[in-house]
Amino acid sequence: MEQTTGAWQGKIYSYQSIDSTNAEAARMLRDGAAQPDFAVTARAQTAGRGRMERAWSSEPNLGLYASIACQPHVAAEQLPQITLVTAVAAAKAIRKFCHADVAIKWPNDLYYQGKKLAGILTQTVWQANASRPAVIIGIGINLNHGLDDFPEEIRSTAVSLKQITGATIDRDGLLAALLHSFHSWREQWQRDGFATIRREWLALDCTVGKKVSLPDSSGTKALVTGISEYGELVLEDVTGKQFTIIEGDVVL
Ligand code: BTN
Repeated sequence: MEQTTGAWQGKIYSYQSIDSTNAEAARMLRDGAAQPDFAVTARAQTAGRGRMERAWSSEPNLGLYASIACQPHVAAEQLPQITLVTAVAAAKAIRKFCHADVAIKWPNDLYYQGKKLAGILTQTVWQANASRPAVIIGIGINLNHGLDDFPEEIRSTAVSLKQITGATIDRDGLLAALLHSFHSWREQWQRDGFATIRREWLALDCTVGKKVSLPDSSGTKALVTGISEYGELVLEDVTGKQFTIIEGDVVL
């Protein structure tokens, strides 16, 4: 089914069930079946994917599972910033639509009081004859889960909007709010650069000031002191030396 909504001018391809909305968006781009901008959403995913090759639990109707395919008008070195742009857009949409004070954990997880609410998985796709790459941004948000709806291994670390607000969340309404927010923050980023996004991101952040474990599995801890003008995480080791990381998960 196709529909259009608000300031978001792209088509939305909706499925009852699909392997992964990211995988479907990639197939559509590679086959030339659709041109950016468009979104793919499903009520359930049979092979939902997370970052670091993890699975993303995608039971019917419990979560919002959506992927946005777009082709940002920015220089190649700015492209990775799209994940931080999306995190800001998603946090703002959830705050407005659901009245939940969600925060961003670098680079693009949404958290509520120390528990994970949503994740973002970005991938780049080159279409035949294209001069710029397309980007697929997959977003998974826990909507209407009760405690027992989460797989056991994430039960103590995940949270849903229903658990936060006590209300059943209207999936289609939140998707429309999310696409609207994504559209306007992406426009702002393309027009004015990363500085405004960085400011908004820092206002929503729950990582700066925390001692975190690094993604290198060494068990080393470092203090997060900020994010750079390019979106890297800035940290300080025990000797006070500053360093940055551009990707990977840090553990709070
Ligand atoms: C993470 O590991 O935090 C990222 C999770 C991203 C999950 C979403 S759900 C919609 C889209 N389709 C997928 O297969 N993954 C993303």
